[in-house]
Amino acid sequence: MRILVTYWTRTGNTRRVAENIFGALSGEKELLSLDQVVSLENYQMIFLGFPVMQFGLPAPVKEFILRNTGWGHFALFITHALSATASDPELQVILDKEIQRCTRVFTKVKPVGLFHCQGELSESAASELLATGNPLLKEFADMRAATIGHPDREELNQAYQFAVTTFKEVEEKIKQL
Ligand SMILES: Cc1cc2nc3c(=O)[nH]c(=O)nc-3n(C[C@H](O)[C@H](O)[C@H](O)COP(=O)(O)O)c2cc1C
Repeated sequence: MRILVTYWTRTGNTRRVAENIFGALSGEKELLSLDQVVSLENYQMIFLGFPVMQFGLPAPVKEFILRNTGWGHFALFITHALSATASDPELQVILDKEIQRCTRVFTKVKPVGLFHCQGELSESAASELLATGNPLLKEFADMRAATIGHPDREELNQAYQFAVTTFKEVEEKIKQL
């Protein structure tokens, strides 16, 4: 099975998750940033990763998804400033909505798996969010301290396990065809 792990990143968090996913996979595989991907046609399995930006998909990722065909077996991995284990129910609702917005762009085919975790909001990103004037994005900027160090070792291990499990599931599906 030929596998592609591809990602879009601004500050490196999503690339670190991508590298862990890539490390979990065996066989013929490639790790490419999204702008290096020419076509999806030759891959039997695709892992696509990106950060949440302004409550949804970064524009270049959305454009890539809509422009490309060949989304057979694919899984998503997403990083975001909000904690995935948010104890505050209001934050949990916001996070759920963000993830929904990021996945609903796939209308015809659905991902076989989804992994998401917290990613550190860099200092420059926090300043950028403060400058938007959007009160909710300003709140994110104030949360910067709580995001430092993410994705952490545990989250990277979870990403690794996610890749192992998802890969096995797809292998089984292909065998049954
Ligand atoms: C312009 C901008 C907008 C962002 N908007 C959100 C957001 O709406 N929700 C959220 O949870 N995180 C948001 N973040 C935080 C990033 O999703 C998070 O830090 C992510 O891990 C960054 O990934 P990267 O290092 O791969 O670029 C935003 C970051 C930036 C720079």
